[in-house]
Amino acid sequence: MYKYYCFNAIAECGLANLSEDFVPVSDAKDADGILVRSAALHELEFGKNLKVIARAGAGVNNIPLDRCAEEGIVVFNTPGANANGVKELVIAGMLLASRDILGGINWVQENEEDGNIAKDAEKAKKAFAGCELEGKKLGVIGLGAIGVLVANAAQHLGMDVYGYDPYLSVESAWKISRGIHHARTVDEIYSECDYITIHVPALDSTKGMIDADAISLMKDGVVVLNFARDVLVNSEAVVDGLVSGKIKHYVTDFPTPEIAGVKGAIVIPHLGASTAEAEENCAKMAVKEMRNYLEYGNIKNS
Ligand code: MLT
Repeated sequence: MYKYYCFNAIAECGLANLSEDFVPVSDAKDADGILVRSAALHELEFGKNLKVIARAGAGVNNIPLDRCAEEGIVVFNTPGANANGVKELVIAGMLLASRDILGGINWVQENEEDGNIAKDAEKAKKAFAGCELEGKKLGVIGLGAIGVLVANAAQHLGMDVYGYDPYLSVESAWKISRGIHHARTVDEIYSECDYITIHVPALDSTKGMIDADAISLMKDGVVVLNFARDVLVNSEAVVDGLVSGKIKHYVTDFPTPEIAGVKGAIVIPHLGASTAEAEENCAKMAVKEMRNYLEYGNIKNS
């Protein structure tokens, strides 16, 4: 009989896979396994039976990895399970940065009561004119599950896609991302691309990578998208970039307070993985990993 604790009920759907040998407990200290989405576990006291933590999502920065390693607690994530949801939001972000959809919506709401919409229609066409994605260069930094999906979707929109991933062999790069120009350095992405999207984990080597130096190499009027982790960018440098106009738009689902109100910032809550499908996929995969480990000792992270 295994006891599991589920933070904020990550999904009933995934839990339906558990057999009668698994019982939910209301105190994490009693659990053999913990299922978690975004709750930070750094302050959590582990019970003596805890053997596994399964994170329903890609990033594991909410888990105290060093403590888990010391105490022999296995940590799983669910790579790829929410990638499609994130990809779709990144593409929406690029469209929001290129077409003034939000400006147009606000304008219609403000003007409908006064009956000005028909009268000022021509003015609106000028005021909210945008540009197209087709033919523009997109740089994708990090060609993991999400980066590759974004790259392929952008190709379908007619974008010229550059990819950079120092961990990818030439062979795998060719297999997973045909038609992408593989940049040899990240600087090539910075200097060549009109849109730059980041899809790397938050590591010591990636934290703050979008800093003043990186931004100085970028094209004037670049659009930077960050749906990966807030710590990948230096907030001050992004604000300076927006204020000077070097960065036309910074699009993100991390509502960093210093950036959120600055002109050109397009900031929403952390919604990349918040689709019914992504939540179900993540929950099912997290439950499967926890169960495989507790019942069979399997460590596969499929
Ligand atoms: C992730 O790391 O995959 C996301 O942060 C998932 C989430 O929003 O829960």
